[in-house]
Amino acid sequence: MTPARHGFATRSSWSATSSERVPKTLTIVGLGGSLASNSKSRAALQTALEGAARAGAATRLLDIRRLDLPMYNPDDDDEPSEAAASLIESCYAADGLLWSSPMYQGTISGALKNALDWLHLLGDRDPPFLHDKVIGLISAAGGTQGLQAINTMEFAVRALRGWAVPYVVPVAAAARVFDHAGQIRDQAVELQLKTLGEEVVRVAGRFAADASLHRQAECADAVERVATAA
Ligand SMILES: Cc1cc2nc3c(=O)[nH]c(=O)nc-3n(C[C@H](O)[C@H](O)[C@H](O)COP(=O)(O)O)c2cc1C
Repeated sequence: MTPARHGFATRSSWSATSSERVPKTLTIVGLGGSLASNSKSRAALQTALEGAARAGAATRLLDIRRLDLPMYNPDDDDEPSEAAASLIESCYAADGLLWSSPMYQGTISGALKNALDWLHLLGDRDPPFLHDKVIGLISAAGGTQGLQAINTMEFAVRALRGWAVPYVVPVAAAARVFDHAGQIRDQAVELQLKTLGEEVVRVAGRFAADASLHRQAECADAVERVATAA
């Protein structure tokens, strides 16, 4: 796990679990990038994290290249590698997430999907998976069909019980948007990415500020309601 280069900032909300309403700094975790050294999806993710930091959140970057995750294998569920455990715990502890995938063959990369598969180990937690976590979605494509990768990620958000922010950023023609050093050259896309980061903080703050939210009880209620309706 690598702290984003803009480090930690200080936006506070209120703890949802404390009756004394203790101030809580929101943490936004960015997961994504490709295995390439010059990854546009990683650069886009860093830009969005800058937006989250500007909105006052503490931010962390989980760079797929640096995580170096093994392939998910259900046989390893009881003993995930250190890298997988770090990924899982960081995502579970986050108030909100930003996911950023390269567009590969019309969909998300295998490496990002593998990281998401590791989150299956959160199924036994209480609350399970990414229950009530807010997730902002980004893709970087050579062409213009980046929304396909966004839509694929949204399926995973729902499967993991999270909430996708309606505003999304599919970066088209990514090689023209970022230079070889990963610096963003397109001010309009920069604004879009930072706005997404701010949106994740804004909505995560709503969840965190709602003192009536008791995640464990809510989750049990939701499971019961869904089972009854099925
Ligand atoms: C294996 C592979 C498949 C790709 N498939 C597509 C594609 O289907 N559509 C597209 O627009 N770009 C495609 N591209 C281009 C990438 O989306 C583009 O280079 C993007 O910047 C990759 O993300 P990265 O810079 O984070 O590695 C592909 C690139 C690779 C290496």
